Amino acid sequence: MLKNKGGILYLVGLIISIVIVIVLYIKYSEDPVIDEQVNDVKEVSSFDPEKEKELKAQADIFFTSISQVPKEDIPSNKIALGKMLYFDTRLSLDGTISCNSCHDMNTYGVDNLALSPGDTKELGNRNSPTVFYAHLHSMQFWDGRAKDVEEQAEGPILNPVEHNIPSGEFLAKRLREVEEYQTLFKEVYPDSAQPITFATITNAIGAFERQLAPMSRFDEWLDGDKDALSTHEKEGLKAFIDNACITCHNGPALGGSMLQKFGLYGDYWEHTKSEVIDNGVFDLSKNENDRYVFKTPGLRNVEMTYPYFHDGSVESLEEAVRIMGKLQITNELSEEDVKSITAFLKALTADVDDEFKQQ
Ligand code: HEC
Ligand code: HEC
Repeated sequence: MLKNKGGILYLVGLIISIVIVIVLYIKYSEDPVIDEQVNDVKEVSSFDPEKEKELKAQADIFFTSISQVPKEDIPSNKIALGKMLYFDTRLSLDGTISCNSCHDMNTYGVDNLALSPGDTKELGNRNSPTVFYAHLHSMQFWDGRAKDVEEQAEGPILNPVEHNIPSGEFLAKRLREVEEYQTLFKEVYPDSAQPITFATITNAIGAFERQLAPMSRFDEWLDGDKDALSTHEKEGLKAFIDNACITCHNGPALGGSMLQKFGLYGDYWEHTKSEVIDNGVFDLSKNENDRYVFKTPGLRNVEMTYPYFHDGSVESLEEAVRIMGKLQITNELSEEDVKSITAFLKALTADVDDEFKQQ
């Protein structure tokens, strides 16, 4: 089952990449002007209206503004319940941690640690990704093993090095004893004889997570505000497209939709200096093609979600960008491109409203 799922997702990812590369190739070969621009960064630095129009047309192919993502109609009492659960340490065995311990709402949904300590203080083996925008991904976790944020939430609760809860039923029983939860769950799930179950707990947490998608300056630019990005950031966006970063980092989350090998042009640990070599999807599927395959992470808020990569092995965003240039694309990035791409990525930074933070 898993083996097939991983294989198919990988294949689909690969096919999408190939199609995008072909589309790009056709676009470029039709328009020699763009080719010249690639070779001469200075020429585009002014961003006259024509060039800006071209860049916008390209960006519209690969990205989606948050304003264009359909809003789900989720009742506000469900979101409030999800928020309460998200911050509640009763969701861990010894009552020491909550979702917020590793995915802190005050720090863009991460803890900024390479690896996170769980309920027993033991460290996990992968870096905590941000929960912001995670619902826009088509799969969850570094190896894509859960399909959505609701299914994902079961994982940390039952994980011995995270919340360390022995079973879903154990947690449901514990929360049934809390009077406030009895009332709130009944309001949100009125049709169930027993409203507090592991499924309703994770469903409510998912509802809260689905609200975490603030607008960034890049979205404002995609929506037509030309001044929302500086010239340097626009150069970075152009370099991001021209260097084929968009083959993997595209869509509304700038990633999160495909499994890809980390290290297409070299061994990743030589560059990241990772202490442990993580096999990625291979550990689930045992399929040789899945070795070192990971979910392409979304890049929104990447400025704030350091340290980088599945093991948090790299501290600096510039260095992460440089490594991507060495490992994932055919030509190494110039230092000029590393700088402008980094500037562009910083324009993706956006914080959630205070209502989602702990009061
Ligand atoms: C002890 C730290 C810790 C706690 C507590 C924790 N997580 Fe995580 N979370 C992680 C780590 C580490 C990963 C990545 C694991 C992997 O990919 O194998 C992760 C992954 C995720 C993802 C996937 C994001 C993506 O881009 O793939 C979501 C969503 C998430 N957690 C939500 C939650 C929720 C909701 C809770 C509370 C029920 C929670 N987490 C509790 C550490 C934690
Ligand atoms: C072939 C697919 C692919 C291409 C092309 C690609 N990336 Fe990535 N990117 C990935 C994968 C997979 C990871 C996660 C690697 C890991 O940590 O295991 C990643 C991780 C990243 C990260 C770290 C994110 C984080 O939260 O840890 C950044 C930054 C990044 N990529 C930027 C870029 C830039 C800039 C380019 C273009 C120069 C690029 N990527 C091209 C697949 C790709």
